[in-house]
Amino acid sequence: MANVYVTRMLPQEPLDALRRCHDVDINPHDRPLTREELLREVRGRDAVITLLTDTIDGEVLDAAGPRCRIFANYAVGYNNFDVDAATARGVILTNTPKVLDEATATHAWALLLAAARRIPETERFLRSGQWAGWGPLQFLGRDVDHMTLGVAGAGRIGSKFAAKAAAFDMRVIYHDLQPSPELERTCGAIFVDKATLLRESDFLSLHLPLLPATRHFIGAAELAAMKPTAVLVNTGRGPLVDEEALVAALRDKVIWGAGLDVFENEPRLTPGLAGLENVVIVPHTASATFRTRLAMGMTAVDNVLSVLAGKPPQTCVNPAVL
Ligand code: DGY
Repeated sequence: MANVYVTRMLPQEPLDALRRCHDVDINPHDRPLTREELLREVRGRDAVITLLTDTIDGEVLDAAGPRCRIFANYAVGYNNFDVDAATARGVILTNTPKVLDEATATHAWALLLAAARRIPETERFLRSGQWAGWGPLQFLGRDVDHMTLGVAGAGRIGSKFAAKAAAFDMRVIYHDLQPSPELERTCGAIFVDKATLLRESDFLSLHLPLLPATRHFIGAAELAAMKPTAVLVNTGRGPLVDEEALVAALRDKVIWGAGLDVFENEPRLTPGLAGLENVVIVPHTASATFRTRLAMGMTAVDNVLSVLAGKPPQTCVNPAVL
């Protein structure tokens, strides 16, 4: 039996599957581990299941020691991993792709629609008891049907998101490093450069990985290039957007609105953001459905079980070590 550490409580079924084969210890607190706790708890483990809130760098890998064969992230994004440091030490890193594509794409639509039709703002107004009855000029929002949808990132989640635009008869434009023939075939999306994406999108949704090259993909200059009627949606990673620049742009009506699931310095919000009426903010819940979180757990556990049985994991992010 190997010894596996899990940095936060996960759905029961994958943990039971893990416990049937190995000794398992779990962070008992309902919060992320502190850095000190993480460094202490990984020591001497054969495998560790981590969260996007755990920074796994050379120091943590060294603290885990030479027995540790895998760090399995309970997330598709793995910007919390120092991939080079793990690869240099021969440690396998895995993530949980595919199983959360639909939940995340649907959540991006929920944010888009909520921002366009001012759902949280109007709900707050109604609950506050201020509503004095229907009015022709009250809380007018943005039409979604027949508008232009911009998609930054043509990977699995971006493609699922784009496919749902057919329900609203939208024109879909997208930008990525390379065109996606699949996306063009399935939803008639048109490949454009970044300047065109910014200029023509009525709604712009970010589905890029966080890399040095995509950090602040949207900053003050990009916001200024967007339509004043545009809505920005981010379910990718917070640092894709310069959040200070976004707060200023929303305050000064440079763009019309935003829907954010992720934030630049989670869990902290940039001062001023939470006070704005034209932004919908939710606490990084795009994958938070029962079925999706269970499937993410099963993927992470399957990866650990495979590696501990001497087999390659299904979703390795540093295959050079295999
Ligand atoms: C991920 O998986 O990367 C999401 O941000 C959380 O599910």
